[in-house]
Amino acid sequence: MFTIDYFSEIIEKAIAAMDFPAEPSGLYEPVRYTLDGGGKRLRPVLLMASAEAFGAKAEDVVKQALGIEMFHNFTLLHDDVMDNADMRRGRPTVHRRWNCSTAILSGDAMLTLATRLVADCPDIQLRGVLGLFNATAMEIYEGQQYDMDFESLNDVAVERYLEMIRLKTSVLLACACRMGAMLAGADEASCAAMYRYGELLGLAFQLQDDYLDTYGDPALFGKEIGGDIINEKKTWLWINAMTEGREQMQRVLDKKLTDYLKIKEVKEIYDSLDLPARSHSLIESYVEDAIAALDNAKISAEARSFFVNLANRTLSRAN
Ligand code: IPE
Ligand code: IPE
Ligand code: MG
Ligand code: MG
Ligand code: MG
Repeated sequence: MFTIDYFSEIIEKAIAAMDFPAEPSGLYEPVRYTLDGGGKRLRPVLLMASAEAFGAKAEDVVKQALGIEMFHNFTLLHDDVMDNADMRRGRPTVHRRWNCSTAILSGDAMLTLATRLVADCPDIQLRGVLGLFNATAMEIYEGQQYDMDFESLNDVAVERYLEMIRLKTSVLLACACRMGAMLAGADEASCAAMYRYGELLGLAFQLQDDYLDTYGDPALFGKEIGGDIINEKKTWLWINAMTEGREQMQRVLDKKLTDYLKIKEVKEIYDSLDLPARSHSLIESYVEDAIAALDNAKISAEARSFFVNLANRTLSRAN
């Protein structure tokens, strides 16, 4: 039972069964379009698996799992406007297929739908669940703001980058893990351990996302390659290239190249500094730390091996 496919099937069924009003179609069609676009469903899988690890049934927490996935999808609609991204999950982004106003408003609707789903839990757990959810949401907005602020900064320390990705990405994975455990009535030490697992996994996950943004196969990744370089996002790759190859980087940037050539030449600098392999080692170390965090969670060997496998998959993910 403790497999990714088992949990994915539950969430896919729940998404397919969601019913949205037909009108106004301009509001709801993009919501359906986004949810039908697939994606890995990592966060709801984490939430349901955490709940089962502490004795609940996945079905009992499916509303909250759906809510967290809905919230994640809301952030993507707005993120794609902010990042001026054309493709997601192999299809045009909402703001490209419709327009920016649509991405903003359908995103808003998804945030409210998400909150409603998350809050649909037993009264006794409502305060804790909603408190965690809202605190997480605020942290994500802070992370997204830092991400944008950093675009126009030249020097961003690696530590600030790590804190930025912790906020924009890790805390949602951490929240999913903790919420599942909380809903199953796990003790505080276990809830904290699951949170830490999700947080460390999230750092590995975003580092891999940044790697794939430059080195991924667009057919598998589903997003356009090189967007981070065009936007001068302060990724781990960029920061290290700026530290160790500042002159080469500055020369390339001063040339005001076309997008295609800018990506090509920055990538050549990354390669010359062996940054892909070095970023992979860092990802490995965060995966190891995430796995170690599980030691403080009172879970069965079966549940533990599920979370270990899930973390290890991050290392080789291509989408
Ligand atoms: C994309 O998340 C945004 C990041 C935090 C990198 P995912 O890579 O989980 O996106 P989907 O849901 O699988 O498409
Ligand atoms: C996204 O980071 C984080 C959130 C959506 C909160 P990215 O901007 O790197 O995500 P992708 O690459 O567009 O999926
Ligand atoms: Mg983006
Ligand atoms: Mg972004
Ligand atoms: Mg990215």
